[in-house]
Amino acid sequence: MKRAKEIALKIRDAESVVVISHIDADGITAGSIAARSLERLGKDYRVEFVKQLDSRKIEELKDENPPLVWFTDLGSGMIHEMYGLNAVITDHHVPSSLHVVIPKHARKNLRTFFEEMSRTDVLHLNPHLFGKNGAVDISGAGTTYLVARELDRRNVDLSALAIVGAVGDLQDSEYLKLIGTNRIILKEAKEHGFVDYFLDARFFGRETRPIYKMLQYSTDPILPTLTGDEKACINFLRELGIPLKRENWRRWIDLTFEEKRLILSELVKLILRMGYGHELAERLIGEVYILTKEERGTPLRDAKEFATLLNACGRYNKAIIGYNVCLGDRDSSYKEALKMLNRHRRNLVEGLNFVKEIGLIKREYLQYFHAGDRINENIVGIVASMLLSEETREELPIIAFANSEDGNIKVSVRSPRSLVNRGLDFSIIMKEASAKVGGYGGGHNIAAGASIPRGKEEEFIEIVEKMIKKMLDK
Ligand code: C5P
Ligand code: C5P
Ligand code: ZN
Repeated sequence: MKRAKEIALKIRDAESVVVISHIDADGITAGSIAARSLERLGKDYRVEFVKQLDSRKIEELKDENPPLVWFTDLGSGMIHEMYGLNAVITDHHVPSSLHVVIPKHARKNLRTFFEEMSRTDVLHLNPHLFGKNGAVDISGAGTTYLVARELDRRNVDLSALAIVGAVGDLQDSEYLKLIGTNRIILKEAKEHGFVDYFLDARFFGRETRPIYKMLQYSTDPILPTLTGDEKACINFLRELGIPLKRENWRRWIDLTFEEKRLILSELVKLILRMGYGHELAERLIGEVYILTKEERGTPLRDAKEFATLLNACGRYNKAIIGYNVCLGDRDSSYKEALKMLNRHRRNLVEGLNFVKEIGLIKREYLQYFHAGDRINENIVGIVASMLLSEETREELPIIAFANSEDGNIKVSVRSPRSLVNRGLDFSIIMKEASAKVGGYGGGHNIAAGASIPRGKEEEFIEIVEKMIKKMLDK
């Protein structure tokens, strides 16, 4: 790819590089890919993880004025403010150059604003610039990997991290496999023996959890009468004659082919009997991604588990721990990451239970909840994703609010794919609606977010609902 080559050239020319990346699984893998390739080039570099790239951070970087800034898994939404910075971007969020929203401070001097926007000489690799959908085609780790492989052929080992990043952003969730540019990376990873893939149950925890626990915690798809109920899961397996324990608790990877087939066919029957339909049943099976160089039975072996481990670090402001694990630490950082993973899983379950307690508020075009201080702003989006996958019969997007530590309100939104297929695009809605109440936002059509001032939630919901209606009516 020509753009990846140009970016690689610019990186080679730089005396030193500051890498800025996002705190989630995709951002951490992207930052790790950038770091390892800079290390192999023998460059001076520093990596920083941020929750969001805002104007303040960009001003800070302009003041520091490093020879080159490499933004990974973020930056596209702020390219209009980067004039004066020597930078490259490998990202997959919807670029601000595609939907210009003029920030308040620029309204007085529109000419300067547009001049600066057009003068920016930032090199930018992003699937949206090539007519592709950044929510499924490739992740931030993937675009970063495309540059890494131009820098050094040895970097092909980093393809495994690119797959973890894509899975971390749920890019396999719509088609139950990775498609587009992700698939090219996947094939390369397989060819070189770093990743294997095949069809199997899509459950989280195939490698590490006792089977009954795996069923109990299944949220995509939810298993009617089983999800959330330990006893029911144990009984279900006993009735099928599946031994739960040999020397240790048996995990999915310990079962025989026949046992797996029996469980899956009974689950399909159960889902259909409970009236959930084929669409949910089909989500039981899909492509799974195995990191062949990682030890069997550890959370690093399965891309989905690896990504969750990274989220468990990054989303609690410990991205560096996950980054160390990506770069090979299997000692102190890995141990710390495992602890954080447990806490993260507990927080998600508590978050889900909390929303079930207070209930989702339903409106004509959306449903929402306000978590206040009860759910951490960094995981409220994951909770919204899980709630949506439980609600296959509801065709409403979920908007989630949580108090942010910076005094504002964090907004996360997740949309059913059926609405996205009908033209709904939350990257635009979050961006425009938040700007109207004095905040900022962006993301992808199917999953997006924003930050808005406290007290503006009602007004924001009104604006968002009007925009959804308008987009769907078009
Ligand atoms: O910032 P970033 O692009 O990495 O975040 C993408 C987000 O989109 C992830 O949190 C992921 O959970 C969400 N997503 C989703 N459903 C999809 C695709 C992505 O909820 N089908
Ligand atoms: O935080 P959450 O997982 O809900 O984020 C969903 C998507 O929205 C991510 O891609 C994130 O980068 C984006 N987002 C954004 N601006 C914000 C908050 C989230 O672009 N203020
Ligand atoms: Zn991403």
